Amino acid sequence: MGNHKGVSRRRLLKAAAGAPFVASLAPLAAMAGTLEPTPEIPDNDDPTPSQTEGPYYKRNSPEKANLMVEGVSGTGLIVSGKVVDTQGKPIAKALVDVWHCDPKGDYDNKGFKFRGHVFADEEGKYQFETVVPGLYPGRTRHIHVRVQAPNGKPLTTQLYFPNDPGNARDGIYDKRLLMTMGTEGEKKTGTFDFVLRA
Ligand SMILES: [Fe+2]
Repeated sequence: MGNHKGVSRRRLLKAAAGAPFVASLAPLAAMAGTLEPTPEIPDNDDPTPSQTEGPYYKRNSPEKANLMVEGVSGTGLIVSGKVVDTQGKPIAKALVDVWHCDPKGDYDNKGFKFRGHVFADEEGKYQFETVVPGLYPGRTRHIHVRVQAPNGKPLTTQLYFPNDPGNARDGIYDKRLLMTMGTEGEKKTGTFDFVLRA
């Protein structure tokens, strides 16, 4: 009996000594079990800056991925990329509405030449094909875009071309909105990922 009592006491003492640790570790263990690990924030987590809409936006543009206009010659341009949220999550079915001037620098304000919209796919990818826009007085080369998550707030912004001589003279130009350029056959390619606030 005495022996048994001794073991008991020893166990009690052990438990008492361990108690503070148990008490302090318990909440941590519980947290580790229930909390999601912090998601990795991608480099492009800053929301895409918004820009002035300009005077030439027209509602109800047609849904089309090819904005080329017959009889208008210019350098072909394929613009593509992704629409994601600030955590890098693709925004499926995001609207990408585009308008820009023709290679001579004129906007079609009567019809919908060089105006159209596409929807991002399930991976948030979008693409449209057009011609490299021209220049009009006071501005560097740019493409107007309105991007909107389903039921989200629209982001109105503009895309720019790297190394365009007009960039440095344009007060609206923002280097964060530069496309990454490449070529595909005789066409130019521009890629840009839009990051929308969730
Ligand atoms: Fe413009």
